[in-house]
Amino acid sequence: MLNDSIHYVQSELYCDDVPVSAIAADIGTPVYIYSLKRILDNLQRIRTAFADVNPHIHYSAKANANLTILRTLINAGAGIDAVSAGEIHKALLVGTKPEDIVFAGVGKTRNEIRYALEQNVGWFNVENALELQHINDLTAELKREPARVALRLNPDITAATHRYIATGHKAAKFGLSIQTVKDLLKKRSQFPHVKLEGIHIHIGSQLHNTAATRRAVEVALECLAPYPEIRTVNIGGGMAVRYSTDEDIPKWEDFGAAISPLLKNYHVILEPGRSLVADAGILAISVLYFKEQGGEPILITDGSMAELIRPALYEAHHEIVPVTKSPSPDTDLNFHVVGPVCESADALGHNISLARMEPGSLLAVLTAGAYGMVMSSNYNQRLRPPEVVVETDGKSWRLARRRETWEDLTATEIF
Ligand SMILES: Cc1ncc(COP(=O)(O)O)c(C=O)c1O
Repeated sequence: MLNDSIHYVQSELYCDDVPVSAIAADIGTPVYIYSLKRILDNLQRIRTAFADVNPHIHYSAKANANLTILRTLINAGAGIDAVSAGEIHKALLVGTKPEDIVFAGVGKTRNEIRYALEQNVGWFNVENALELQHINDLTAELKREPARVALRLNPDITAATHRYIATGHKAAKFGLSIQTVKDLLKKRSQFPHVKLEGIHIHIGSQLHNTAATRRAVEVALECLAPYPEIRTVNIGGGMAVRYSTDEDIPKWEDFGAAISPLLKNYHVILEPGRSLVADAGILAISVLYFKEQGGEPILITDGSMAELIRPALYEAHHEIVPVTKSPSPDTDLNFHVVGPVCESADALGHNISLARMEPGSLLAVLTAGAYGMVMSSNYNQRLRPPEVVVETDGKSWRLARRRETWEDLTATEIF
């Protein structure tokens, strides 16, 4: 979706004050381009939406773990929500204070827990009774101060979102059942080397209503009711972004308004990912060929599911727009925009209304800043694309990750 940063100036697409075509001419395509200004604006908008509970915001690095983006958010006062030792490593590399890192994840290994304890991360979001035991035992073994723990509750609430990114229903692999949370709270003295100080919920991503989140918070607070000394509630991420003009999503203020009255006297942690970075990023691609097959117009581009898997994985919709608008838009056709990968699922969009495009024309896949580059792969031995950032001044831009080379492609193989 277009916004203040990803916008047209007359017929040219810009990222802030930089023409997308200028970046593509210099760096080539496919290329991810991010507006750091937009990311910081989004951070501010989330802070405003939840101002009543003054949350500590831990950016969910899984959405986009580019070091420049992590550093930009850390410098603006955010912490990090990490789901692997690798994410903790990257967070520390850009100067995140260990106490500002929340370590979440459904399957932490003992080595990862050990590493996180050695680094003194601020919080563990625990999803398994045995995991709690591991944290307790490793803390004792390493002779560390007790680690702070929040139990991740599975509130048995089905989120209004795609089933692959719903996490709060009873049969999901995520979190601890209500009964398990209650049991662990009751016997918390059996874990003398952890400080059980919080509860955590995250019922899914790209949430299409606020009622389910509010209900999840209510269930969490019911679990905490017998323990007034436990004052931290981490409500995860999940705030939705608009991927198309007709997508009806709650405003972030609506999320704030729905839960803030419940959490007035609590220390609140938020873990937004998508909402901070999605609409700050685009994937710029080039048209390679046109084909009409079975009466269907098909644009074959140099962007594929290897660079952006969301359409293939979730049938996710991304708007795709020309980098230079055609002077005669009335010739629009509804294209399949596909990539070169050998899978029929390899499409970036269907029914995309565009004017006829010549080979070499540039397109931009919008709202691609979240769960884009982080999910990219070398499938078909494609080189993973570069990432460019437009700095917060809106004018200067630079490479934040170079394009991979054939040497990168084989660097880890032994033959
Ligand atoms: C525990 C947890 N917190 C935060 C997030 C970030 O969610 P979003 O990108 O929807 O804000 C996720 C995403 O899956 C998650 O699992």
